[in-house]
Amino acid sequence: METERIEVPAPSRAYPVLVGPGLLDRPQILQEWVGDGGILAVTSRTVAGLYLNRLTALAGGRGCESLVLPDGEEAKDIRHWQRILHRMARLELKRDCTLISLGGGCVGDVAGFAAACYHRGVNYLQLPTTLLAQVDSSVGGKTAINTEWGKNLVGAFHQPLAVICDTDVLNTLPDRQLKAGLAEVVKYGAIADEEFLGWLEINGRALLARDPACLRHAVRRSVEIKAAIVGEDEHDSSGRRAVLNFGHSFGHAIEHTAGYGQWLHGEAVAAGMCMAARLAVAEGDLQSREQERLETLLADLGLPVNAGDLDAGALKKAMLSDKKNARGRIRLILPRGLGNARLTGDFSMDALDAVLSGRAS
Ligand SMILES: NC(=O)c1ccc[n+]([C@@H]2O[C@H](COP(=O)([O-])OP(=O)(O)OC[C@H]3O[C@@H](n4cnc5c(N)ncnc54)[C@H](O)[C@@H]3O)[C@@H](O)[C@H]2O)c1
Ligand SMILES: [Zn+2]
Repeated sequence: METERIEVPAPSRAYPVLVGPGLLDRPQILQEWVGDGGILAVTSRTVAGLYLNRLTALAGGRGCESLVLPDGEEAKDIRHWQRILHRMARLELKRDCTLISLGGGCVGDVAGFAAACYHRGVNYLQLPTTLLAQVDSSVGGKTAINTEWGKNLVGAFHQPLAVICDTDVLNTLPDRQLKAGLAEVVKYGAIADEEFLGWLEINGRALLARDPACLRHAVRRSVEIKAAIVGEDEHDSSGRRAVLNFGHSFGHAIEHTAGYGQWLHGEAVAAGMCMAARLAVAEGDLQSREQERLETLLADLGLPVNAGDLDAGALKKAMLSDKKNARGRIRLILPRGLGNARLTGDFSMDALDAVLSGRAS
């Protein structure tokens, strides 16, 4: 099966995303993207057990040092960020070194932030291993760690040299993680490409069964959509990039209210997109049958379509602290038909309350 190549036209640095099976076995990957300096690979425990030896084998005689972090959000912490920097310094890596992240979005975010900081920015190659990381976090140059005052509070924009998405590694991903990644895939269709939503409706079952050609297409189309948006608004300053947050204000409120770790991010985004769609119906921007279509697709992919029994008041309080808000007013990404969305603060608070309390359907 051929490898797909998508260019990310970020103004600070354009770079390719390669998508396809078997990429982790191709020595050309390191030959093409890694310079003459040293290499440090950052990964997490589970991924190290599965794939780290494949990466170090690719490096062959060049040598590839590695650092294994904990799985999940625990890695996105100042202590682990510092561990990466200390290791780089002890290895006496120079500006021509390359930092490689092999793992999910958490490893990618903390390693990317270390790459942005070491010598004020060194080469960074992403090998994302979750569906969410392949379709979302590895593309676009946002890096960050969490602090006790907020998730992703400290970070930098630092674009990678390249992103290598080996779709074979998705075979070992737990079902729940695969589905959570599919929520972001549906998001791309909902904000930018109704035809892609139709493709997902037809191929949902095959995606859940991890059909290789379907996975490659889903990752490719998602990356194409994200790449185009990042090209227009690399630093999230014009409002264009904000559409990538469709479903996320509701989703973050769900994650926060339920307690972090209860809902996977993608699960919360799935329910959040359905809630945003219900609000758009109330505002006359989306037809009921379009909202039902989105909801049926997400439900068929095994994703939640509402916030369950979470308290509406607590959800609203969490939404009031969202960073997209301006002048005390909640701003949301709302769909305008399927395949289109916009950032707006222009909606009825009563309609929002009805959505949060589950009264809107
Ligand atoms: N930078 C961005 O633009 C951006 C965008 C979206 C999300 N994010 C961040 O991404 C993070 C979430 O990333 P995630 O969903 O990938 O979660 P994750 O990194 O926690 O990975 C999920 C779990 O899957 C395991 N895993 C990874 N690859 C595997 C594989 N191939 N087989 C088996 N297990 C595997 C990991 O070890 C981990 O336990 C969040 O911190 C979020 O803030 C960043
Ligand atoms: Zn997301």
